[in-house]
Amino acid sequence: MSEPVSSLTVVRDVGSLRRRIKAWRSANRSIALVPTMGALHAGHLALVERAKALADEVVVSIFVNPTQFGPDEDLSAYPRREADDWNLLAAADVGLLFMPDASVMYPDQFQTEVRVTQVSQGLCGDHRPGHFDGVATVVAKLLLQSLPDYAVFGEKDFQQLVVIQRLVADLDIPVDIVGLPTVRETDGLALSSRNAYLSESERAIAPALYREISAVALDIANGVDVAARCTDAAAALLKAGFDAVEYIEAREAATLAPLTASGGPARVLAAVALGKARLIDNVSVP
Ligand code: PAJ
Repeated sequence: MSEPVSSLTVVRDVGSLRRRIKAWRSANRSIALVPTMGALHAGHLALVERAKALADEVVVSIFVNPTQFGPDEDLSAYPRREADDWNLLAAADVGLLFMPDASVMYPDQFQTEVRVTQVSQGLCGDHRPGHFDGVATVVAKLLLQSLPDYAVFGEKDFQQLVVIQRLVADLDIPVDIVGLPTVRETDGLALSSRNAYLSESERAIAPALYREISAVALDIANGVDVAARCTDAAAALLKAGFDAVEYIEAREAATLAPLTASGGPARVLAAVALGKARLIDNVSVP
């Protein structure tokens, strides 16, 4: 397919990535990185816009990272839309797209794993064993490959964001991690590449997840019993048509520790199954 006129360069190996970034550094350009797995939507593009506002140059990475998928998960089915992604990034005036394949990220003899312990446990960590080790390892690599001033992530994957903040603090990686609010459809459903798995009838059920966690957050702010309210919410989600509720919980936003009486910022987080899709969402407690 023909590509639009743009200054978007695609690099697929670390040497080329570093050469381009070195040239920007020599010209005193600041750099923001937006890591993705592609199948880009308006949520990803909001991160790109923030990256453009933060820094002189933007690097987007697209890599469907095999090590963060469990053996029974959707690695092979995960949507891949290279040409569409390229067009969206070119239209967004992104300068550099890093699109390595697995042999570049995990060459023969690769044997290092980065594990962030406490905040990777519970919530999605309990339902996707090893997932956050895969995320932490690949994000550590992406940050060290590009050494950006900023890296931008979505609050949509709230536990992931907390894991990455911990990773960067613990390993003294010199980058500012910037989190962005979740971009939603008009009916409240959080944009996700995995929404493509939903049938029409499932798509009609899906917004109930956001409605339910928002109601729970409001009730918690009003002082209702958290555990009982979350149990009720799980039952309500099943009644609304979701196939399973992996978890619905309220946690301290900064640490994901169980809520205490400290009254710090709190977050309600949930994961559900709906047809072939696993949907996650979270909201802050007002
Ligand atoms: P992916 O699911 O492609 O998401 C890339 C980034 O987009 C993440 O920071 C995610 O939180 C953000 N994002 C997704 N949906 C969003 C929405 N509706 N609103 C705002 N931001 C949204 O997350 C990953 O990829 C991977 O785990 C990755 C970090 C790239 C490591 O492999």
